[in-house]
Amino acid sequence: MTKEQLDKILESAKEQLSQCMDLTAAEELRVKFLGKKGELTNILKQMGGLSAEERPVFGQLANKVRTEIENGLSERTAALKAELAERTLQAESLDVTLPGKAQPVGRLHPLTATLNEVKEVFLGMGFDVVDGPEVETDHYCFEALNMPKHHPARDTQDTFYINENVLLRTQTSSVQIRTMEKRKPPIRIISPGRVYRSDAVDATHSPLFHQIEGLVIDKGITLGDLYGTLELLMKKLYGDDCKIRLRPHHFPYTEPSAEVDIMCFNCGGKGCPMCKGEGYVELLGSGMVHPKVLEGCGIDPEIYSGFAFGIGLERITMGRYNINDLRLLYENDMRFLSQF
Ligand code: DAH
Repeated sequence: MTKEQLDKILESAKEQLSQCMDLTAAEELRVKFLGKKGELTNILKQMGGLSAEERPVFGQLANKVRTEIENGLSERTAALKAELAERTLQAESLDVTLPGKAQPVGRLHPLTATLNEVKEVFLGMGFDVVDGPEVETDHYCFEALNMPKHHPARDTQDTFYINENVLLRTQTSSVQIRTMEKRKPPIRIISPGRVYRSDAVDATHSPLFHQIEGLVIDKGITLGDLYGTLELLMKKLYGDDCKIRLRPHHFPYTEPSAEVDIMCFNCGGKGCPMCKGEGYVELLGSGMVHPKVLEGCGIDPEIYSGFAFGIGLERITMGRYNINDLRLLYENDMRFLSQF
């Protein structure tokens, strides 16, 4: 056992450590030099063959070599670990300045948005929102509304019959009867819902569309109440500048009856192609509830009076958003719907 042997081991350890490129290789070097069967350990095993004077000298020397190899190993290991950490950080780096990924958020369909606003206005005036069946009997849809069989007014509302007596309702007016049968005046309700007519699809017709029925019954209700209520609704929907007018009309279940028009936005009432020269655009049907209808529901027309109206939801929605084709409301094309 010589000092040269120890120096050689140290030198070779340093050399191999400097070339060691990863933590596994570093561990292998530790075993190779310092392990139970390692090179330095093997040399130390030979210490027994030394004289009593040589032993402490070599012992010291061997310890020094061991410490140096240990230090070299831990330095190298630390450097390798730092390198590894740096590489991992680089690989996992996150650019917090990149723009985020937008989450698509849904929105209300224009028909739903308009209906919500209409409900809001009427709830504010103390109305209830009530529901009625879409599959209806001839009685509620026509008969009780003063439209007996063979009445010409039925011709404008051809529909889908399930049998002779049961049909898909053509109008939400049926809910007027159902409500008056159930409630005592004062009554203030609106009833939105689907209605059906046997119409071919075009820019202004659909076999399925929506109406909002309104009904008010109390003592002393006049046409002025009808006008004021509808004017308020239209101002909320179309802005304070809008003007409405009542035009005489005929519905079997109201007397007098009126159609409500709104002043054309395009020409301000002068007449233009959009309003077909009229200056006004038709919005809805309305009137004072016919005494025969009240009587039929057990309400005394000598004591009570009331008004009713039926609004086409599609029509007022198309007016608000300037939509010129009804079909766009049902096609669910996101390019169209996401504009609103
Ligand atoms: N039901 C009518 C329609 O579908 C609209 C209507 C007119 C409703 C007059 C009413 C009313 O309540 O009083 O065309």
